[in-house]
Parts: sequence; C-alpha cells; structure tokens
Amino acid sequence: MKNFKKIISILLCVIMLAASVTSFASAEDAGKTGTAPTRLSVTVNGDTSTSRGFCWYTAEQTETKVEIIGLPASAYTVEDVICQEWEGNWMHKAVVTGLTPGMSYLYRVGDGQTWKEGMFRTDDGNDKIGFINIADVQASNLDSFQKGANTLAAAFKKLPAADFVSNCGDFTNDSTNEEWDLYDQAFGDMNRGCTLVPASGNHDGLGVDYWFTNMFNLDTTESVETKTGVNYSFDYGNAHFAVINTNDLLSVSNSQLKWLENDMNSTDKDWKIVFFHKSPYTLGKDGKWPDALYLQKSLTKVLDACNVDFAFSGHDHQYLRTKPLTGNKLNENGTTYVLSGTAGSKRYEVRPFLQGHFMNMDFIDRLVIQREGYGNESPDHIGGCFETVEINGTTLTLKTYILNDETGDTNLVDEYVVTKAAGENKITFTGDNTTSELEYKANIVPSFLRLAVYAFGEWLPKFIIMVPALLDSVINHDIF
Ligand SMILES: [Fe+2]
Repeated sequence: MKNFKKIISILLCVIMLAASVTSFASAEDAGKTGTAPTRLSVTVNGDTSTSRGFCWYTAEQTETKVEIIGLPASAYTVEDVICQEWEGNWMHKAVVTGLTPGMSYLYRVGDGQTWKEGMFRTDDGNDKIGFINIADVQASNLDSFQKGANTLAAAFKKLPAADFVSNCGDFTNDSTNEEWDLYDQAFGDMNRGCTLVPASGNHDGLGVDYWFTNMFNLDTTESVETKTGVNYSFDYGNAHFAVINTNDLLSVSNSQLKWLENDMNSTDKDWKIVFFHKSPYTLGKDGKWPDALYLQKSLTKVLDACNVDFAFSGHDHQYLRTKPLTGNKLNENGTTYVLSGTAGSKRYEVRPFLQGHFMNMDFIDRLVIQREGYGNESPDHIGGCFETVEINGTTLTLKTYILNDETGDTNLVDEYVVTKAAGENKITFTGDNTTSELEYKANIVPSFLRLAVYAFGEWLPKFIIMVPALLDSVINHDIF
C-alpha cells in the first residue's frame, strides 16, 4: 500500500512535470543566451525528510532562485544561496529547508525568468526504502555517456520508486567543462527528477581542486578538507549512510577515518551503509596498486569497529561482492563489500596475479566480468551494471543487473538478502571520538612521507612476491 501511494505520488509529479513542458522548452531556447540552468542536480543535504540541496550552472552571471511549485514562499525556506564563477561558468547553489516528510515536490531553479523544473521526494521516516547504485561511467564522449545513462534508465525500470541514486564516482574521464556538459546532456533529465548521493572518484577533478565539491550541493563535514572530494552523511528511513572521499594520497586520511568513526558511532539506525570510490577488495587492474591494500588495513578497521553492514565502491569496473568480513577474515556478522560494476562502457578483465596475493579468493561470493576476456563467464554479462537495494525493516535485498549491450535485456546477475534484528545498534558516543580503541596519529608526519613509508615498507614487499604471477599473467594472458 505504501509503495502504491509512493508510485501514485510520483506519477502525479511526472504528469505535472509534463504539463510544464511548454515553459521548459522556452527555457531551453533562452539557454542560447547563457541564462538557462544546466548541470542541475538535487542532492541530500541535511535532514532528508525536510531539506534538499540544489546545484546548477549558467554561462552568464544570473540571479539564483529556487521555488517549490504550488507552494507559497512562506511554506519553505531557501538558504545558503551561492552564485560564483567557477572554471568559466557560473555556479549556483541553494538549500531548501522546512519541507514536509514523505512528500513529492515539483521545483524550479533559475533567475526568475528562465527556469528549469524537476522533482524530488522527501523521506517519510518509514523503515521501507530503496535506492539505486551505479559507478564509473567515466566517459569522455556523448556515446559513452549515453550508454551510462541507458544503464541508469534500466535501473529506474527495476526500481521506479527509488528514494535516491548513489554514484560511487568517476562521473567523467577528465573532469572538463565539456565532459560535465556531455554528462548533463545524457543524465540531466534523470538527475533533475530524483535525489542524488554522489561520491567523488579519482577522475572527477584531475588536477583542479574543488571540482567535485563545486558540482553538487552537499553538507560536507567541516573536519575534512574538500579539495579532492567530499565526505558527508545522512539518515534515510531506518538506515544511516556515509560517503567517503578516497582521492587523497593514502586514499583516506586519519582525519577522514576519525570523522567516519565518530559519525557511525553517533547513530542507532538499524542499517549502516558507506559509499566510496576505490575498492579494498578487487580483482581489477587497480587492485595491484598501494591504494587497495591500504584501504584493506585502514578503512576496513573503522567499518569493523562501527558495525557497518555494507560498503559500496567502484574504480575497478567489474562487479565483485564479498562474503561478510571483519578484520580481513570471514565473519557472518561483518561488512559486505560490493564493488559496483561499471555503468559505462570501459570494463576490466580479471587480474589473475592478484589471486592469493592482494585478494583472498575465499572472500568472494560473486564476481561478474562485464567484457569479453579473462574471467568472463557469459555473453549476457557484457554490458552496464547497476544495483538496486531495498530495505524493508530488518531485511535488506541487494540485486545486481547487467544491461546487455547487444540484446538490450536486463539480466539479474546477483541477489543477496541479509536479515538482522532491529535495535542492535546503540549510540556509542556523540561528538569527538575519545573512547575508541582505534588510534588516529596526529598528522605531524606529512602524508607524502607516510605514503612513502607505507609503499616501500608494506606494499612493495608484497608486490615483489606477486611479480612471478604478474609476469605469468602478462606472458600468457596479455593482462597487466
Ligand atoms: Fe576510478
């Protein structure tokens, strides 16, 4: 019944949105003058039941206005309004607060004359939620962006009432204005009609600080620098979510880990889920570099200490789900790691040399390679990948699909159900961590020195042991 109401409410909004097509078309025409909003996104920002963040761009400097269609301005608050030049365009940000939980809203953003419309729905606080997860579109031309968008469109067919869409990073390949515009061309109509939960990938700001931070309006923690990406958290239904940036020198810094532990220990929500870009457990080409191994020894400790249920990541363009792990060992009450396959068209084979070295094969519960080549199981698996996650009280159902390139069929390639008792998570402490057994060494030693010590002291010896297997892979499979 609740889902039926959700769908009816969404359908009504879609009809109203369609009715506004005339004004939307005029806005597109006006865009030629440089005042039409582009790259519009709605993101979680603060309380998901009463607020949302908005970000869009214009070519010319304009006013920054957000309106909820059909409501008097006195019924909500528009705050934290920003309009500033960024990389040759004008970035607009605003947060709308004071909304009603469990409502679908039509909105419009613009300068007061030229508008772009969209819709979103606020959290009703109920313990039944669903979301779509994708990763690694990492495109640089319209055709590749469109393939990624087709994957997301297929996901909406499987979960039309999705509360939000998480994206584990690498939205673009080189993070240029041209690529973000192509991304908008392919994804824009879907992005303005749902709530996004973006995580920053290593391709989302190459060489330019704050690129990613300036593409979305997120309530990032002030305790961690946002130059290379974002760290934030939010509640939705009976779950608590955190998003971690893995773009720094050591993938994650001590200040990030400390923030994450404080954050995750400050919630008593039944489910704890984390999104980030680089994967600790992978059989992809980046699994051999220091990042993955470092995440295995650092980030996973915090997830263990905080009883995190699921960790979604990307970066390695193949689908891999582990069995639940704690302390890099199998533990049925531990964290399940999901390396989301790529939603785009750049896909990686298995790197056989990682097996038994950087990747413990006993940990793997499901592996799907999305391209022809080493490790591929089936032609049905050649295509873009997405996951749907539905939480219904104490049960979480993960389903993973591949949108077949050739046939256009959407094939279920993994289904995984977890149940747990409600009320198990307690608030351990709030505020700054003072009781954890984890140590966060002060950043007295510069991070590049700590990276050098780690890389030469821990990663390199393990890499050297792996070299014969790596050479065998290069010689026999032409895979590095
Ligand atoms: Fe990546």
